[in-house]
Amino acid sequence: MSGRLPDSFIEELLSRTDIVDIIERRVSLKRAGNEWQALCPFHDEKSPSFTVSPAKQFYHCFGCGAHGSAIGFLMQFEGLEFRDAVEDLAKLAGMEVPTTEGAPRQRPRTGLFEMMEKASDWFQAQLKTHPPAVEYLKQRGLTGEICAEFGIGYAPAGWDGLMKALGGDETRDGLLRRAGLLSDGDKGSYDKFRDRVMFPIHDRRGRVIGFGGRDIGDKGPKYLNSPETELFHKGHELYGLFLARKRGRLESLLVVEGYMDVVALAQYGFGHAVATLGTATTPEQAGLLLRATDTVIYCFDGDEAGRKAAWKALQATLPKLTGGKQAKFLFLPDGEDPDSMVRKLGREKFEKLLAFAQPLSDFLFDHLTAEVDMDSLDGRAKLVQLARPHLDTLPQGVFRDMMMERLESLARYHLRDTGGTAPKPAPQRRNRGEEGAKARTPMRLALAHLVQNPGLAPAAGDLGDLLGSEVPGTDLLLELVDICGERPNMTTAQMLEMLRSHPSHDHLAKLAVWDLPGDVESSTREFKDSIGRLRLRRAEDALAALPRIIDQDEGQRAEYRALQRQVTALKDQLRGRGN
Ligand code: UTP
Ligand code: MN
Repeated sequence: MSGRLPDSFIEELLSRTDIVDIIERRVSLKRAGNEWQALCPFHDEKSPSFTVSPAKQFYHCFGCGAHGSAIGFLMQFEGLEFRDAVEDLAKLAGMEVPTTEGAPRQRPRTGLFEMMEKASDWFQAQLKTHPPAVEYLKQRGLTGEICAEFGIGYAPAGWDGLMKALGGDETRDGLLRRAGLLSDGDKGSYDKFRDRVMFPIHDRRGRVIGFGGRDIGDKGPKYLNSPETELFHKGHELYGLFLARKRGRLESLLVVEGYMDVVALAQYGFGHAVATLGTATTPEQAGLLLRATDTVIYCFDGDEAGRKAAWKALQATLPKLTGGKQAKFLFLPDGEDPDSMVRKLGREKFEKLLAFAQPLSDFLFDHLTAEVDMDSLDGRAKLVQLARPHLDTLPQGVFRDMMMERLESLARYHLRDTGGTAPKPAPQRRNRGEEGAKARTPMRLALAHLVQNPGLAPAAGDLGDLLGSEVPGTDLLLELVDICGERPNMTTAQMLEMLRSHPSHDHLAKLAVWDLPGDVESSTREFKDSIGRLRLRRAEDALAALPRIIDQDEGQRAEYRALQRQVTALKDQLRGRGN
């Protein structure tokens, strides 16, 4: 990860961006009072619970809980990383994203991207003049059309074809080297990819960042991938994701192992396949997958290696299974890969095969119960021991609770006694106003008002007398009042972006959609009122902490009287007397 972008930049970016404008381009919005509504793009629904607030510059779905700023929306809707979403918005807003401090890469990457593009064009052009390469692709059953769509090319057998074509001076050779396209030997540099069919690898915005090369002359390793470069980080990319996204909304993604699998599947109409580039699925890849779609189907060999790969994928996936997301596993017969399978079965039968994919829950418990003797008490205890660490990585939510329950019933044991999550009542659809049933304590109310209307901060007055309060959230409240005091014109979205990695971010995001009075006057009153209650509580706690009057010394007695006066004044104020 590169360094953090300055808060001031994100704040400026969001003030130049209108979230309604960003969302409107992708989802059809209808006006509803001061807000906009739509059918939620992140889950299936029949009546709209997706709401966009221009005032807060924030979106929220009361059905599935999705929420965020314009940046968050692009991340969720387009499956972009934070940095990429910021860059897209910056382009629209006519802003330049600053280079971040602490990031190792300082050299501009523009030239590198251009060099990769040129190399890709050159490889594609070479295909036209090298019939054996075309013959190879034909014999693998690929049409010219699909090869063009994937930008497949050919790196000729010589040692310096690419170097001659695109290098030639220090700058250009330097770029080729940084792009990972050259190898260095005793006698100098030479083309890294030789006599190989070339598969360009795109980043999520369609720029070429690396290549995979398939040997067609039986000389070296079957596949050669670009080395790690400034642009290319193998474990963070998925081959085919850009093209799959370009084809439209992704109901699901099919994860396979090889380049050829992706291309062959696309040719048979399965345009939603991506490949992990020959590595075990990494947590970054699992994150990318589940941001791009709700359903991931991992498609692996049925052999020992395939099952191992699937188990690794499962572990990478568990922490990403937030509400509405799911993963499945499809194991192919021995000796088959998706490429050979789809050719053998054809489109329709392969489609039917996909329906047999095993849900992650079944795969997990099948895998673990196979390792223990379920008929013995010891075996079932062992199952709990094996499963718990995995289930503990699941995000809080219905799925996690159900998995825990399944483990309980398999083990015939109640986990909640050992600190497991207690089974919860059946999930209810949250309605506006219900807010996940959190009580409106004065602290939550004060925080909610601040998050929704940062301009209220000065109305809190000096909060010095809250210092040392035992009410949870006091530190957060003081922190927020400070932040808001400095930037009173902030929107909700700007504040939450600033606190993106704050431990209380998610809590605040929930409060950001509490239903509060809309007019300034009543919200100021309610905010002051909740602060008043917190002050009262603090004063009463301080009073209670003093020794009995009879044991008080001079100083304590003075403090006692001051606190009593404060309590009386606060009570008056809360009853609407006072000011
Ligand atoms: P496979 O060996 O299963 O090859 O490798 P494949 O995809 O079926 O290829 P074809 O059909 O023989 O052409 C799966 C993936 O593992 C990586 C590549 O990403 C490949 O697509 N791999 C394989 C390498 O990186 N290097 C190798 O030498 C072999
Ligand atoms: Mn293959």
